[in-house]
Amino acid sequence: MTYEHPLAYVLGLEGIALMRSYTGEHDRAFVEARLAEIRTFLDDDSLADTAVEVARVDTVEGYRIWAQTYDGPNTAFDLDEPFIREIVDALPVGDALDAACGTGRMAAYLAGRGHRVRGVDLSPDMLERARQRVPQAEFRLGDLSSLPVPDASVDLVVCSLALTHVPVLDPVLSEFARVLRPGGHVVIADIHPDGVARGVVPSVRLPDGRPGRVATYRHLVGDYARAALAAGLQVRRCEELRHPAGEPRERTDVLEPWDVWPWALCDLAPEAAHAAIAGTPSMLFWHFQR
Ligand SMILES: C[S@@+](CC[C@H](N)C(=O)[O-])C[C@H]1O[C@@H](n2cnc3c(N)ncnc32)[C@H](O)[C@@H]1O
Repeated sequence: MTYEHPLAYVLGLEGIALMRSYTGEHDRAFVEARLAEIRTFLDDDSLADTAVEVARVDTVEGYRIWAQTYDGPNTAFDLDEPFIREIVDALPVGDALDAACGTGRMAAYLAGRGHRVRGVDLSPDMLERARQRVPQAEFRLGDLSSLPVPDASVDLVVCSLALTHVPVLDPVLSEFARVLRPGGHVVIADIHPDGVARGVVPSVRLPDGRPGRVATYRHLVGDYARAALAAGLQVRRCEELRHPAGEPRERTDVLEPWDVWPWALCDLAPEAAHAAIAGTPSMLFWHFQR
C-alpha cells in the first residue's frame, strides 16, 4: 500500500519549486508566493482528511484492467514514437521483436515497415489485443528476463514503456543481447527515472473501486548503461526528452479524480508545478547495438 495525501503532493511540488530558488532560478517574489500558497494549503480543510491508501498491483493484474482502455489517448505515445521511428526507419527490414509488446503498438509499426514481427508479453489480456491488431505477427506469452525466443534469431529488439516494470535490468538486457544476431539493434524508450521519482506510475481503478498503482521501479540512467555494457551491447545513442518549458497552466479547483490520477493535483498549484517540472526529463531513450 502507498499512502497518498493530496496535501503531500501539492506541498511536494512547492518544495521542489522552492529548492530551485537555491540555484538562482527564482526571485524573492516567487519564494514569498510559494510560502503564502503553502500556508493557504495547510489551512484548506478540503485537503485535510482526504488521503487514500493505494494498492500496489503486479503487472499481470494491472494490465488486465488497463488492457480495456490502453489504446485510448496516451501522451506517452506522442513522446516515444518519434524517437523509435527515427531509429527504426533507418534500419534494413528483417526479423524484429517487440519486447513487452502490450497491445502491439510497436509490432504494428514494425510490421507496417515490412519486418517479420514477433511479440512477447507477460499479460494475456494485452496479448489478446495485440493478436487482433497485428494478425500477421507471432505473439507469445513470456517474461522479458526469459524470452521464449531462440538465440541470435532477430535483427532488432524494440522495448517501449516496459522496463520501469522490471525490478532488475541486467537479466533483461542480457536476454536482448542473446536473441539478437551480431550487429543487431536494441531500441528502448521509457519513463525517465526523474519522472518515476515524482510518482509517474501507471494507475488503475480496481474492480472494488479502490485506486491501484502498477509495480514500477526507478532505474538510473547508469543502470541501463551498465546492464547493456555487461551484456555485450554498445551504446549508439542516449537521449533524455525534457518537459517543454511552456507557461504555467491556469489554476483550477475542479479536479479530475486524483486518487487514480494524482497529477491532476498540479492544477491546484500551477506555478509550483511548472517550476518543479518544466524542463525536467520526462522520457529516456536508448539505441544499443550488439
Ligand atoms: C505500458 S505497457 C507498454 C506496451 C507496449 N510496449 C507499448 O509501448 O505500447 C507495458 C507492458 O509491459 C508488459 N510487461 C511488464 N513487465 C513485463 C515482463 N517482465 N515481461 C514481459 N512483459 C512485461 C506489461 O504486461 C505491459 O503489456
